[in-house]
Amino acid sequence: MSDPSSSPVTAPPSRQAQSGARFAVELCDVVKRYPGGVVALDHIDLAIAEHEFVAVTGPSGCGKSTLLHLVAALDHPTSGTVRVNGQDLTTMRDLSSFRRHEVGLVFQLHNLLPRLSVLANIEVVMYGTHRSSRARRERALELLSEVELSGLEYRLPTQLSGGERQRVAIARALANEPRLLLADEPTGNLDPDAAQRIMDLFEKVNADGMTVLLVTHDEKLATRADRIVKMKAGRLAG
Ligand SMILES: Nc1ncnc2c1ncn2[C@@H]1O[C@H](COP(=O)(O)OP(=O)(O)O)[C@@H](O)[C@H]1O
Ligand SMILES: [Mg+2]
Repeated sequence: MSDPSSSPVTAPPSRQAQSGARFAVELCDVVKRYPGGVVALDHIDLAIAEHEFVAVTGPSGCGKSTLLHLVAALDHPTSGTVRVNGQDLTTMRDLSSFRRHEVGLVFQLHNLLPRLSVLANIEVVMYGTHRSSRARRERALELLSEVELSGLEYRLPTQLSGGERQRVAIARALANEPRLLLADEPTGNLDPDAAQRIMDLFEKVNADGMTVLLVTHDEKLATRADRIVKMKAGRLAG
């Protein structure tokens, strides 16, 4: 903090890499062109500091989901660099480990496994990690308490409201303690009250230290983030 020239948003990537992950997310001159020629991201530069809560807004089709998919390592940029927690995704070998440990993902449709209980839906993403089955159970119960769903452990997803299902999806995204939570229109199917409760939860995990990147076309909801990034036709609009 003593060096006034070291703004976290303008420090060059080389310094960032040396000093550890000062940024949770860095996009440098990122272009994404889909087969067929649509340019979904048109030379995007964006830096998100650790512990920031950023909302990306803009009309349908402006490139929000594409941006989120690149940060989640679900897709590659056509050109440019994407770094998450100081790691360059374009040169990273083990993307599956990255997806499992570095980021938590929440989508508009919750994608819970329909035949598994709420508890099992959370435990399942911890298979193959260092946790014993007992530790997985304890962690899942703790997470359900955090998202205020204690008592619903043995329900099936179909026996929950939309807002409750989405809270299970958030608990699942948090299970492996990611440093970055990525959410794409997580409130898109919810009524306003349920949407506000989801935002309460994002605020809470952000206050606990997690970086949150939320994509939403709902500008009012976006005002609850620390910073709003507006997109228009594949570019940042201020
Ligand atoms: N897999 C794809 N193949 C081709 N074009 C796509 C694909 N995914 C998205 N697009 C196009 O890229 C643009 C940005 O889409 P998207 O990132 O989904 O926007 P948003 O999430 O803001 O609605 C749109 O024009 C969309 O039609
Ligand atoms: Mg989208």
